[in-house]
Amino acid sequence: MKRVRRVGILTSGGDCPGLNAAIRAFVKLALRKGVEVWGFSDGWEGVVEGRYRILKARDVSGILPQGGTILGTSRFNPLKSERDVRRALANLDELDALVVIGGNGSIHIAHAFQEMWGKVIFIPKTIDNDIWGTESIGFNTAVEVATALIDRLHTTAESHRRVFVVQLMGRHTGWITLYAGMAAGADVMVIPEFPMSEEKIAEYVMRRKRMGKNFSIVAVAEGVRYARQREHNVGIYLQRYLARELEIETRFVEIGYVLRGGTPTAYDRLMAHEMGHFAFVLLEEGRFGCMTAYNGYVERGLPIREAVGRLKTVPAEEYFAALPYFG
Ligand code: F6P
Repeated sequence: MKRVRRVGILTSGGDCPGLNAAIRAFVKLALRKGVEVWGFSDGWEGVVEGRYRILKARDVSGILPQGGTILGTSRFNPLKSERDVRRALANLDELDALVVIGGNGSIHIAHAFQEMWGKVIFIPKTIDNDIWGTESIGFNTAVEVATALIDRLHTTAESHRRVFVVQLMGRHTGWITLYAGMAAGADVMVIPEFPMSEEKIAEYVMRRKRMGKNFSIVAVAEGVRYARQREHNVGIYLQRYLARELEIETRFVEIGYVLRGGTPTAYDRLMAHEMGHFAFVLLEEGRFGCMTAYNGYVERGLPIREAVGRLKTVPAEEYFAALPYFG
């Protein structure tokens, strides 16, 4: 097997807590094994433009608990232009491997470069937790933060006898909404995987009212859409609907980017650390085109191509285990 001498690493897509823990683990191990690491700036933009710095031990020192990414990130997609692909391939020429830490958009790019160039390792990250076959860095922290915020809304909802419609991030899936909603004792969770009519939501709120509970928390994932919805935010649409239909004071709250910021939970730090570690092991083993899938422990052999174009959605068993507790 060819000795690994020089490797690149980048973060791509939305930032999230835990990226730095993964970068740190990977870079530390690489440096200890005498491997040079190029840290590309701002995701694939840095690869196309040849913007990188050679990472030293001091660059990754003290970053374990820090949110964001020391490398910077972007949603830039080099596949949109043949010229960018050529420039990226030329800039990768001196490397023995590239580690891509990314989400569902980045996995497509990682896969395409694996097909063209053959030396890509992928680490999954996204607060949405929707990368197929694995848990993702950032999700655990997002659930913790969302739970704490919904807890806080509870007190005002109860004191003022209000309905809060809380919209949470999650473009295609309802993982954050269902998990944080359940953990914080929200009353209705509306997620893209299992559509629920406006009438049904109102019914849950009214059922609570009949039981003497004059307040409710309705958690909805941003990716939910209704046929009659004209508002950009589904949460605003539902809040207006409930205000119109029910004689109850309603409020809308959006929990967005705060879920992606700040310090990672211990769980995310540890998972990210393991993924960073095993990304290096994978490339030492020459197992390119693989990702560090995590399902309680790192399964390091999952081919990237198996996860491309697939979405990890909330399974029916989980949703229907939560449903009896709505309302
Ligand atoms: O994929 C993670 C995510 O935070 C989604 O939940 C959200 O819809 C999206 O990114 C926002 O993206 P951007 O940072 O480009 O606004």
